[in-house]
Amino acid sequence: MRVLVIGGGGREHALVWKISQSPKVTEVFCAPGNAGTATIATNVPIPADQIDQLLQFAEENEIGLTVVGPEQPLVMGIVDRFQEKGLRIFGPSARAAELEGSKAFSKNIMKKYGLLTAEYEIFTSHEKARKYFDEETGPIVVKASGLAAGKGVILCQNAQEGRDAVDTIMKDKSFGEAGDEVVIEEFLEGPEVSVLAFTDGNTVLLMDSAQDHKAALDGDKGPNTGGMGAYSPAPVFTDILRQKVRDKIMFPLVRAMKAEGRPYKGILYAGLMLTKHGPKILEFNARFGDPETQPLLVRMESDIVPLFEACVDGTLDQCDLQWKPESSVCVVMAAKGYPGSYEKGKEIFELDEAGALPDVVVFHAGTKLEDGKVLTNGGRVLGVTATGPDTASAIAKAYEAVGKIKWDGIHYRTDIGARDKK
Ligand code: AMP
Ligand code: GLY
Repeated sequence: MRVLVIGGGGREHALVWKISQSPKVTEVFCAPGNAGTATIATNVPIPADQIDQLLQFAEENEIGLTVVGPEQPLVMGIVDRFQEKGLRIFGPSARAAELEGSKAFSKNIMKKYGLLTAEYEIFTSHEKARKYFDEETGPIVVKASGLAAGKGVILCQNAQEGRDAVDTIMKDKSFGEAGDEVVIEEFLEGPEVSVLAFTDGNTVLLMDSAQDHKAALDGDKGPNTGGMGAYSPAPVFTDILRQKVRDKIMFPLVRAMKAEGRPYKGILYAGLMLTKHGPKILEFNARFGDPETQPLLVRMESDIVPLFEACVDGTLDQCDLQWKPESSVCVVMAAKGYPGSYEKGKEIFELDEAGALPDVVVFHAGTKLEDGKVLTNGGRVLGVTATGPDTASAIAKAYEAVGKIKWDGIHYRTDIGARDKK
């Protein structure tokens, strides 16, 4: 079978890497891909949001399965469009992907079905959102409701910061029309964990846990990013918590989406905070996490392709999912300045040396190939991923590889996985 992966980040390189190991797969394409996917698949120069062109490519090239990485094409309805043409595609429909596309929609579903999440209010008026802070004084979180590449969340310590955040999102439109509506919510505290599951709309198969590091700087300081590194499994996520999350969050949500006439198929990703009152939902995403996918997929024992197919076909109840016992860590190497402005086009050196280290896979994100050279081409450039018998050894191997790679203007965190060093 020929498989098309849509997207060009670290998550998609990891997906291509895992899919190409399947005995069911003869050829893998990646649109648009990056310099890493080019080494193991055929890159197709179509951007991830050009649905007409992607559809045409899939039809002309007899693609047996399309796997969508990023949220944008899902929210735009790529799955619906492919299915109308009888093409097999893995991911939720546009109506189901609204769970990620609109935080306001998502919070309202959680409220309606009694799923545990932070208390919140939704505003479409800038003035009313500002006025909210006449009464509220303590720490609070202000979120753009729409898609903002993981950056539309502002953590505020007091009312003035809250008003400033509302201005940034609704008046200055820093996240474009994603900020036409804001969600203002209770500030939760506790460790975070990302729980991803395969679902066919009825059965839910949870993956092992992973923990992301969202802040740009060591010690969880600095602005939030798409994710500066991740590791798996996350020891804070015990078996008891896992059962609770499956039975009280993931299953009920999938049932709720069905009841709403928006059956949910694909990856369901719950961002959770493990508060002292139990796990609470920060957000749902409609896709694999980036960078969580990198440490997860290097640990996944099972062939991923039959799982994708079972989600599409509604036969997930017949599947199981095995994991390697090792721990894994992914350190994101970013361009200096990310998540603010940064330079592109810097040549990257010693990639092969880093990738040749035992138990290391260097997943590319924002890279491109030009005249035989690998150049930086985005904020998050590489996801250096290593496995080991425990978190500490995976960390050591990942940072050994990171230390070999060079370009002009590297930034990475030096404490990925350190919370759970054991
Ligand atoms: P989200 O995109 O909604 O997951 O938010 C991005 C990040 O902001 C999360 O991973 C948390 O670190 C933080 N965050 C979001 N909501 C809250 C909240 N209610 N309380 C505290 N931190 C939050
Ligand atoms: N790593 C966070 C996300 O993929 O949304």
